[in-house]
Amino acid sequence: MLRTITLGLAGLSYALASSVALPNVFVSHEGEPQGFFKNVSGVNIYHSYHNQNVTTGGKAVLFVSDIYGVPLLENKLLADSIASADYTVIFPDLFNGDAVPSDDREGPALNLTEWRLRHPVAEIDRIVGLTIDYIHNDLNISRIGGVGYCFGGKYVPRWLAEGKGIDVGFIAHPSGLEAAEIQGINGPITIAAGELDTAFNVTGRYNAEAILTAKNATYQTNFYSGAPHGFAVRPNVTIARQKYAKEASFLQAILWFAAWL
Ligand SMILES: *[C@@H]1O[C@H](CO)[C@@H](O)[C@H](O)[C@H]1NC(C)=O
Ligand SMILES: *[C@@H]1O[C@H](CO)[C@@H](O)[C@H](O)[C@H]1NC(C)=O
Ligand SMILES: *[C@@H]1O[C@H](CO)[C@@H](O)[C@H](O)[C@H]1NC(C)=O
Ligand SMILES: *[C@@H]1O[C@H](CO)[C@@H](O)[C@H](O)[C@H]1NC(C)=O
Ligand SMILES: *[C@@H]1O[C@H](CO)[C@@H](O)[C@H](O)[C@H]1NC(C)=O
Ligand SMILES: *[C@@H]1O[C@H](CO)[C@@H](O)[C@H](O)[C@H]1NC(C)=O
Ligand SMILES: *[C@@H]1O[C@H](CO)[C@@H](O)[C@H](O)[C@H]1NC(C)=O
Repeated sequence: MLRTITLGLAGLSYALASSVALPNVFVSHEGEPQGFFKNVSGVNIYHSYHNQNVTTGGKAVLFVSDIYGVPLLENKLLADSIASADYTVIFPDLFNGDAVPSDDREGPALNLTEWRLRHPVAEIDRIVGLTIDYIHNDLNISRIGGVGYCFGGKYVPRWLAEGKGIDVGFIAHPSGLEAAEIQGINGPITIAAGELDTAFNVTGRYNAEAILTAKNATYQTNFYSGAPHGFAVRPNVTIARQKYAKEASFLQAILWFAAWL
């Protein structure tokens, strides 16, 4: 009996080691950002990289944020955590200094309808496209993974369409994601969904799975119990299920890129 079990485990570890190995990385919940900002054609872009010479090519991850954008500490730490897996992480300010203040999110000060009108799809697309050109032409990196959180979860599928520039995608609790955008996906995509998220609810997830299945896409969806909208970025880390959902969805992205990027 023991011999059989031992052989079984050895076979399993061999199978994993010969395909995808989980890198020794973790997501930081606190600390100081390690990256720097550079103004690229009028867009303020956060850069984070580690153990990699960006001038020699390699692989990049384009970070397409939520509405709290580059000012939010958790966003920069998440970008740094992805960089610790040896990716050049490039995170543009999508809102030209007009990100939603994270401490105001429950308050009445901001009219979100007006804020959205100031940041239409065409303008966000312009910034994403400019950033992809910068990665290709200035950083000399041809392979690009995209991560999109909430607001940004719409733009990774849009730029994962054929010939647009993102090669492999990860999205978490996307908002405003349309069926046509999922239909247009032309590369491996992994999706993190939360049980308590009303923006990407069970109907939205089933619809996405049906479209991706019909397309014979290379995809994965993970569903996290007790996880609210925003969990992959701003969970309440004192609540075990939320903290787990952030950490596991981070590894979901890293493992996906290790396999497909
Ligand atoms: C970036 O630089 C341009 C001039 O090259 C300037 O007009 C613009 O305000 C700068 N943007 C940011 C976000 O610093
Ligand atoms: C990157 O590589 C170039 C060419 O080999 C070298 O000149 C440069 O110093 C390297 N930069 C870093 C940060 O290692
Ligand atoms: C661009 O990267 C490739 C490898 O990805 C390398 O062969 C080439 O020399 C690089 N070109 C420049 C200008 O750095
Ligand atoms: C928010 O802005 C929209 C569009 O300008 C307007 O119709 C709406 O009344 C505003 N809401 C509040 C609460 O001020
Ligand atoms: C999910 O959201 C959509 C759009 O708001 C709604 O029509 C649908 O009924 C919701 N599904 C569930 C299971 O709540
Ligand atoms: C689905 O995609 C896989 C991987 O590209 C391919 O091997 C398989 O033949 C495809 N199946 C169909 C029904 O097209
Ligand atoms: C986080 O959760 C704890 C425990 O439920 C709660 O006391 C605290 O107010 C929450 N923090 C925030 C910022 O919501």
